[in-house]
Amino acid sequence: MSKFITLEGIEGVGKTSNLQFIENLLQEAGHSCVVTREPGGTELGEALRNILLHHQGEAMSADAELLMMFAARAEHLDKVILPALKAGKMVLCDRFTEATYAYQGCGRQLGEEKIAQLETWVQGDLRPNLTIVLDAPIDVGRSRAGRRSAPDRIEKEKDDFFQRVRDCYRQLAQRYPHRIALVDASLPLEQVQTQIKRVLLDYEIL
Ligand SMILES: Nc1ncnc2c1ncn2[C@@H]1O[C@H](COP(=O)(O)OP(=O)(O)O)[C@@H](O)[C@H]1O
Ligand SMILES: [Mg+2]
Repeated sequence: MSKFITLEGIEGVGKTSNLQFIENLLQEAGHSCVVTREPGGTELGEALRNILLHHQGEAMSADAELLMMFAARAEHLDKVILPALKAGKMVLCDRFTEATYAYQGCGRQLGEEKIAQLETWVQGDLRPNLTIVLDAPIDVGRSRAGRRSAPDRIEKEKDDFFQRVRDCYRQLAQRYPHRIALVDASLPLEQVQTQIKRVLLDYEIL
């Protein structure tokens, strides 16, 4: 049966690394998977991602940022996510709407009302079957991500921004425990993966 699984967390906590691990587990269990990411996952979405992460010059308004996130998401649902779910596949996505609540809602302090309206408009009642929040202190994420590449427009934000983002993810997991699971991502990779496997079993994905 098709399931929609999303991975969330601040930069450097291990989303991309663990996506492959989850894909392998699902494939071993006999599922076919589509692995994708947000913002992005389509031609238009990747073009919007480029603007969102690398726009320079005149500052982008928080509302414009929010609307572009959902424009990319609408395209992603239409072209990739919904067709894959309809075809009975597992969809694994590196970030989704919980990231919008965390980054634009809490990081940019736009609040949740506008996001909830857009979520209903763009997604109807579609929500991920499972969201795994990889949680680690912001300095842990930063030191891991720092080894990787130059910071993008959003990664350049200050500590208090990322602290709000992390706190928001933790609150979302508390509020929606039936579909959002928190994993301690500060531990060594092997222990993070043990927790992820347990979550996949507990939420009856595997
Ligand atoms: N549990 C872990 N312990 C130590 N290093 C890790 C762990 N998980 C991921 N990493 C490393 O941290 C860096 C960032 O991981 P990545 O998966 O790209 O994070 P994200 O996609 O969340 O930004 C990579 O170099 C990765 O190998
Ligand atoms: Mg990543």
